[in-house]
Amino acid sequence: MNVLKLTNGREISYLNEVEIRMGIDELNGEERYKKELENMETSDITVHKYEGGFKIWECTVDLCDYIEENQTLFAGKSVLELGCGAALPSILTAVHGAKEVFAQDFNASVIEFFTLPNFEENPHSAVVQGEAMGWEEVPNRLSGRKFDFILSSETIYNEDDYQALHDAVAATIKDDGVAWFAAKFFYFGVGGSVPAFCEFINQRGILQASEAKVIAASVPRRIVEIRKK
Ligand SMILES: C[S@@+](CC[C@H](N)C(=O)[O-])C[C@H]1O[C@@H](n2cnc3c(N)ncnc32)[C@H](O)[C@@H]1O
Repeated sequence: MNVLKLTNGREISYLNEVEIRMGIDELNGEERYKKELENMETSDITVHKYEGGFKIWECTVDLCDYIEENQTLFAGKSVLELGCGAALPSILTAVHGAKEVFAQDFNASVIEFFTLPNFEENPHSAVVQGEAMGWEEVPNRLSGRKFDFILSSETIYNEDDYQALHDAVAATIKDDGVAWFAAKFFYFGVGGSVPAFCEFINQRGILQASEAKVIAASVPRRIVEIRKK
């Protein structure tokens, strides 16, 4: 088992590579998810095939620290995590009393062999649902469902996805809900950035995006907060 230790000392457990591999082997995952897993072996990200869900990305730690700083907010609340991968941020909200968590990722293999097992490794009493879908499918697939909190980490690197992310948040956020996106300020060589993402969101006229926290580092990072206008 791996353990992520947060700034305040809290620990979140998640499966290590050997445990993920054992799950895949035991449940015939190699056969069922041939395409996804092939891409995983060859690179961190293969656009719209395998997008890095089996790894813990840097900004996840920022989002978890931010959740710790706001830990009294989650009791009894509903939470959606977009592009969850390991889902450590939404697991943390469950630990802090969230009553319902929906974890979305692009890859069904990530949800089955990483996301859902990770929830089982950390004591909580939330009702957890995990499903694979593209962000452009979220408004239809989650039609009628609204969440108090929407969380997302390291998902704004590709500007081509901004419309789908905008629409996913706009369709699922409660009127008084809040979304937190943890991201690097710039994604060098890929194109996405915090200013480009905020500008895109704000120009659509439905949601309001602003920087809620600055994390100083050689590649600076941000928590972006989004609310309904
Ligand atoms: C770089 S990983 C970040 C994973 C995790 N949130 C973290 O910070 O460790 C990007 C995640 O977003 C998901 N993703 C990327 N593009 C997507 C898309 N178009 N639709 C749905 N999910 C997508 C991937 O499956 C992946 O888990």
